[in-house]
Amino acid sequence: MHRSDEDLRSEARQTTFGDARYGNKAEAFEAFDDQPCNPAVEARPESLIGAVIETRYSRRGALRAGLGVAATTALFGASALTAPTARAQSTAVSSGLAPEAAPGRYAFEEIAGGVDETHHLTPGHEAQVLLRWGDPIFANAPAFDPRNQSEAAQLRQFGYNNDYVGFIPLDAWGEARALLCVNHEYTNEELMFPGLGRQDRAGFKDMTPELIRIEMAAHGGTVVEIERAPDGLWSVVLDSPYNRRITPSKTEMAIDGPAAGHPRMRTSADPTGTRVIGTLNNCAGGITPWGTYLMAEENFHGYFWTDQRDAEGKPQDGLGGDQAASYDRYGLPGGWYAWGTLEERFNVDKEPNEPNRFGWIVEVDPLDPSSTPVKHTALGRFRHEGSECVLAADGRAVVYSGDDGRFEYVYKFVSSKPYRPADRAGAMSLLSEGVLYAARFDADGGLVWLPLTHGEGPLTAENGFDSQAAVMIDARRAADLLGATPMDRPEDVQPRTRLDGDGSFGDGTAYVMLTNNNRRTAGQEDAANPRAENVFGHVIEIREEGGDPAATSGRWEIVVRCGDPQVAEVGAEWSPETSADGWFACPDNAAVDADGRLWISTDQGRGWGRTGKADGFYGLETEGESRGASKLFFRCPVGAELCGPVFSPSGETLFLAVQHPGSDGTRDFAGFERDSTFDDPATRWPDFEDGVPPRPSVLVVRKTGGGKIAV
Ligand code: FEO
Ligand code: CA
Repeated sequence: MHRSDEDLRSEARQTTFGDARYGNKAEAFEAFDDQPCNPAVEARPESLIGAVIETRYSRRGALRAGLGVAATTALFGASALTAPTARAQSTAVSSGLAPEAAPGRYAFEEIAGGVDETHHLTPGHEAQVLLRWGDPIFANAPAFDPRNQSEAAQLRQFGYNNDYVGFIPLDAWGEARALLCVNHEYTNEELMFPGLGRQDRAGFKDMTPELIRIEMAAHGGTVVEIERAPDGLWSVVLDSPYNRRITPSKTEMAIDGPAAGHPRMRTSADPTGTRVIGTLNNCAGGITPWGTYLMAEENFHGYFWTDQRDAEGKPQDGLGGDQAASYDRYGLPGGWYAWGTLEERFNVDKEPNEPNRFGWIVEVDPLDPSSTPVKHTALGRFRHEGSECVLAADGRAVVYSGDDGRFEYVYKFVSSKPYRPADRAGAMSLLSEGVLYAARFDADGGLVWLPLTHGEGPLTAENGFDSQAAVMIDARRAADLLGATPMDRPEDVQPRTRLDGDGSFGDGTAYVMLTNNNRRTAGQEDAANPRAENVFGHVIEIREEGGDPAATSGRWEIVVRCGDPQVAEVGAEWSPETSADGWFACPDNAAVDADGRLWISTDQGRGWGRTGKADGFYGLETEGESRGASKLFFRCPVGAELCGPVFSPSGETLFLAVQHPGSDGTRDFAGFERDSTFDDPATRWPDFEDGVPPRPSVLVVRKTGGGKIAV
């Protein structure tokens, strides 16, 4: 049901969310909304750390080298379509300097840390702006016109805030034709719309229904075919039949797995509890070995609204009725957007079960643009950061996922059935049935995967779990009861693959990005989260028992503790080979390249002023004597985070997603020192044209003259 503009404004004025201390919505989210919801953390034993972590932080002998090659490579050799192509305009940006090899496995010349209005790339490589917010992705889409935006245009253009990037080859190596699958996580209204400013600070008073619809159309995902010309430049195939936008407002999805049809999944629009419109806040994701695109729903709570507020504008206690404890555990309703004033399903007063239909992993078949995406409830409901999928040796699919909240958990899902390469149709139900586990990181370096299985241990009706559906809907609370380890904001969990005669399999190694947790207090440290007020984060390596990604136990070890190693109080730990430019803060997304090398992108949010470094892309050595050595390969323009790193299977092409340029921490940007808006942005990257705001964009990086990147 739609309301009039006046109704919308009147209701919106009654709410207060903003705080002038923060420059924009993302900064306010970081400070306010991401408060720990986990009561279990209070019951943790006192610090186990100190000596434990010191003894565990030691260089090990070389691991068996990973021979990571994306498993998708072999799947699509014969799937090419032969549609005529229309080339989208693209922009080449060359570093203009000669290549120079550096020692070690990461053969590139490190660039200087710092911050300015543009991006910087290691010499000898070139970055091309491939896709920008507003770029047409269909032949009949209108050109980007930031002063005359509409929902209709945005639905046919590339969305905002590109995060995850998945790469699916359409030829043997994907070096000529491929699909890109890109998540659009959230929107910054103050940078998207002229004359608007930050609306969460202003009670959303200027958020008209059309602006809200544009926001919705700018969320979700994009599937787009790309091709490479002989000159090495990539372009979008505008008339490809694969091109597709997926949005919160228009794309119908199926719900499957244990929670499908449960009474808590039913709404007035969907009395079956099996169909839902849309996906939102899609942060990181994954590509499965059978070539599907997984979209992780992260901060879903922020999109839900209530009219029941106290004098300060905060949601009344007890919202959700008999689901109040669940609401509290997930931070519902967040009230970050005014969507609930336009669509009643986003107002929990009207549809208290709608939030139960978000917070899942969505599977999309990009090879069939008419397919219905599926929300797989077997993978649990939480703020999924990512969903990287590998195969165990027996063919079962294993999906790792972090729950991005302070003191939240690391999870993995193991399918019941194995993947059979000859049966792609059968693979489409692999994520419908299996076991979800939460991780317990023991002080002795042991890792135990705790099954979230109804009827086992504490997951019984006595504790409020009437079924496996209830366990999946309230996965956080189930993991609390099982004694999973509360972590310092788990982001991407990146498994490594090895090539076998039969295909590509996980080698049992995975890297966990713990981005930060400034609310861990002295006394709350533990072996896997060794620092109080951990504002810089750390990286943990998991080694599954027997090298089997499906194992229920393993070992763990911290690879690096992030931050400046020259400042003793920071407590950072790096290989001494790491330069002053090479250390980083707030690891977020990760990739493993064709040679098994780990790469990490960072998101410091507004905290980049603490390091003086824009977010960037780093090679982090995990093997041999150089383990813990990091080097800076690329850095973002001011206010951006770096997302979506993915290498093509050959290692010759790299995609980087620069998200929210000109947004975060611009009060710390020397010479600018104020909040950044559409009309007065801290940068106009990447177009640098008067009147054009900064545009989140996906870059494609290659080595000048060709060949493997950083080799
Ligand atoms: Fe969307 Fe956890 O970053
Ligand atoms: Ca992220």
